Amino acid sequence: MDAIRTVEGEVRELIRRSGLDPARDTTEVRHLVRAALKDYDERSMHGGLPLLADLDAAAKSLWDSVAGYGALQQYFDDPRVEEIWINEPSKVFVARDGVAELTTTLLTHDEVRDLVERMLKTSGRRVDLSSPFVDAVLADGSRLHVVIPDITRDHWYVNVRKFVVKADSLEDLVRLGTLTTQAAAFLDAAVHAGLNILVAGGTQSGKTTMLNCLAAAVPPRERIVTCEEVFELRIPHRDVAAMQCRQPSLEGTGEVPLRRLVKEALRMRPSRIIVGEVRQAESLDLLIALNSGLPGMCTVHANSAREAVTKMCTLPLLAGENVSAKFVVPTVATSIDIVIQVALERDGSRRVREILAVPGRCEGDVVETADIFLRREGALVRADGFPPHIDRFERAGYDVASLLAGLG
Ligand SMILES: Nc1ncnc2c1ncn2[C@@H]1O[C@H](COP(=O)(O)OP(=O)(O)OP(=O)(O)O)[C@@H](O)[C@H]1O
Ligand SMILES: [Mg+2]
Repeated sequence: MDAIRTVEGEVRELIRRSGLDPARDTTEVRHLVRAALKDYDERSMHGGLPLLADLDAAAKSLWDSVAGYGALQQYFDDPRVEEIWINEPSKVFVARDGVAELTTTLLTHDEVRDLVERMLKTSGRRVDLSSPFVDAVLADGSRLHVVIPDITRDHWYVNVRKFVVKADSLEDLVRLGTLTTQAAAFLDAAVHAGLNILVAGGTQSGKTTMLNCLAAAVPPRERIVTCEEVFELRIPHRDVAAMQCRQPSLEGTGEVPLRRLVKEALRMRPSRIIVGEVRQAESLDLLIALNSGLPGMCTVHANSAREAVTKMCTLPLLAGENVSAKFVVPTVATSIDIVIQVALERDGSRRVREILAVPGRCEGDVVETADIFLRREGALVRADGFPPHIDRFERAGYDVASLLAGLG
């Protein structure tokens, strides 16, 4: 780590602990920056630490970064804060460890505008009468969404979804209490065996994080192609091709929707396809890919694992193109193998509620399902269902029966 970053970390921590607001307490914060630099400079003289080249330049760059988002900066710096939203200048909310709270931060209308402008500076996007919505990625990977009047009644609505990685692997999820070791071992085997997995859940329930952890379990030599609305996944493999959608320009041209990405992905010789979230017609393209034998995973917004299966049966109908339930329902039954339902609990924790098998049969419009794991009295326990494609597990070197009996 270079010298500036080291001091920056120290300064941020000091500001957070002292409760200073870089937007208002400018003198104190400038003083703190100077003092931290001087202190670091002295320590580095005694060796062991990289030297600071130019103290004045360092002070300026430090100031710019710590005072970056003014009164909101403290929430950017607090690792427990996941999301920040503003309903009106005097109503700033944060979600801390999954629980929403109204903060004591009071802004003015001009400050809100100014903050948004500063956040948008690096993205090259803007909000105004002609484009009252903006969706942008900030320099630190956070996502910004803004809506302004007259779409809203009076105020600018701002949402910042911070980029906080809570988990990179199934083991991390076990550590966080999201699922049990046994369920994680089963999912790991299912990914190795190349089963098709659907991650379902409500808003902010941890779907994308679960998908990312499942992706991390893919054997390291496979080629993974990902298609997302905006980049969120971070996959550690050596052979990853990641694509994101493009918004239409002001003239309404140049849009690249998710459907297109999924179609293109198939031409890129993937051994796995991962789609961030299916909402609409792209579900048809994904289904066709999975049906052709390409293993894949995606997330879908749904309040239960069974609802997710139903949704996978109806969303493809949105594609029009003479797609009928007669084709879709049996295709879903044979193409989706496992559904994982995640939920944001009232205490802010994220939990796997159930793991469902889709054995491959359907009756009329109903896809048959079986519970593999479900939550009973707060604990994720083994139910009696089995996943399909036992042969694939065997080929990958797993004995599903003993894995599910907890002997694996
Ligand atoms: N298992 C977990 N334990 C604790 N926190 C988690 C867990 N999974 C995700 N989170 C946190 O919850 C927030 C939402 O996570 P994530 O983006 O994965 O959810 P999502 O369901 O995909 O949300 P969206 O509805 O926006 O797509 C993030 O701040 C993330 O760090
Ligand atoms: Mg998501």
